[in-house]
Amino acid sequence: MIEVTGISKTFGKALAKNKGKDPAADAGRDATSRMGNAVLKDVDLSIADGEFFCLLGPSGCGKTTLLRIIAGLETPDHGAVKVGGRDVTQAPPHKRGCALVFQNYALWPHLTVGENITYGLEVQARPPEEIRGILAASLMTYQLEGLDARYPHELSGGQQQRVALARAMAIGPHAVLMDEPLSNLDAALRKTLRRELLEFHRSAGSTILYVTHDQEEALALSDRIAVMMDGRIVELGKPADLYARPRTLETALFLGDMNVVQGEKVPGFLRKAGMGTAVAEVNAEGQGARAADAAAMCIRPEKVRVHPVARTAGKADDEGQAAGLAAGQSAGKGGGQGNTQGTYGAGAAANALAGTLAFTEFMGTHANLGVDTSAGRILARMGTEEAAALTAGQALGLEFPAEHLLWY
Ligand SMILES: Nc1ncnc2c1ncn2[C@@H]1O[C@H](COP(=O)(O)OP(=O)(O)OP(=O)(O)O)[C@@H](O)[C@H]1O
Ligand SMILES: [Mg+2]
Repeated sequence: MIEVTGISKTFGKALAKNKGKDPAADAGRDATSRMGNAVLKDVDLSIADGEFFCLLGPSGCGKTTLLRIIAGLETPDHGAVKVGGRDVTQAPPHKRGCALVFQNYALWPHLTVGENITYGLEVQARPPEEIRGILAASLMTYQLEGLDARYPHELSGGQQQRVALARAMAIGPHAVLMDEPLSNLDAALRKTLRRELLEFHRSAGSTILYVTHDQEEALALSDRIAVMMDGRIVELGKPADLYARPRTLETALFLGDMNVVQGEKVPGFLRKAGMGTAVAEVNAEGQGARAADAAAMCIRPEKVRVHPVARTAGKADDEGQAAGLAAGQSAGKGGGQGNTQGTYGAGAAANALAGTLAFTEFMGTHANLGVDTSAGRILARMGTEEAAALTAGQALGLEFPAEHLLWY
């Protein structure tokens, strides 16, 4: 278990203490932050034993700093760090029970695979017999048999990662801290190693704190994700929950593709600012109290329903196919949309818009559609065969099922 309470860190202000130790660093820091740069602001975290926990946030939000504080490589201004129930706030890195895996693996280039793996054990002055035993077991576990005499530059990226993991695990850590361990690999290898990491976690059952700015990685790997922005944890939860119901607009826009329509409120509807278009019904079921004050509507591209329209939609007097389709869909699902009898784009339709297809992007497993509407460009998703039948400039009807709308 890792517990972090009330951690704050400001760079620059506390400089006087370390001044002179590293003149180059001092110069840079002085120039950037004479007033002090508050990087972590009262951060609390609790990671359970065996949990795969991701710290996710944009570049510069303080992820690495927090990881380094937990590892003991950086000192917090305030707050405490506990590992396995023990307060380690003042303990040196090697007495914290945490192993580190860095972005570039940081294998010792002049040491062989075997020497890299046993390095920590040698530092701890474990008996040679024990070290030999642990090495043999690690080589087997991490499928590195026969490679122990090689040097890091003679290994593939995947093998290097396994050595880094084996080295981290050899000392029997309470937790493994990983800082973007896959970020400088090519896409294919990243995916392979991501799955290896999942299997590693399942079989070893270790507690992992994983830092990344890659939302796909966080969603794929984690038991829980903490979203970090500007030195604070702004949201915490299971991947599926965070994806389906982000608490803030900020998180909604950061985590996965999202359509957002900023609007102005009129009774019962969100209107696109400055336009007569009623984008969606605000008072539909299941949206919670927040919907009443909402000024932005969000919907995931894969939740937007797309209906090809035979003739031009969007005219106020058009009772054509587009509106008919939307009304039929809503009624069919029993979604409680009583007033979908209006027309797309004309001000009366709820949860439906008319648009024209701007582009189709073939993604292999699906196609992304960009649809221009009176509320701006809306992204949607479709099966590739269905999408292949569409042509740019074609009229489309879009439907926003009420149960998938998010309001902020
Ligand atoms: N030693 C330092 N001295 C001064 N400022 C620092 C120091 N280390 C980090 N910072 C600043 O603290 C902020 C957070 O840095 P940090 O490395 O924790 O970000 P990050 O979330 O890991 O970003 P990335 O995703 O780019 O790795 C940044 O603005 C950075 O410039
Ligand atoms: Mg970082």
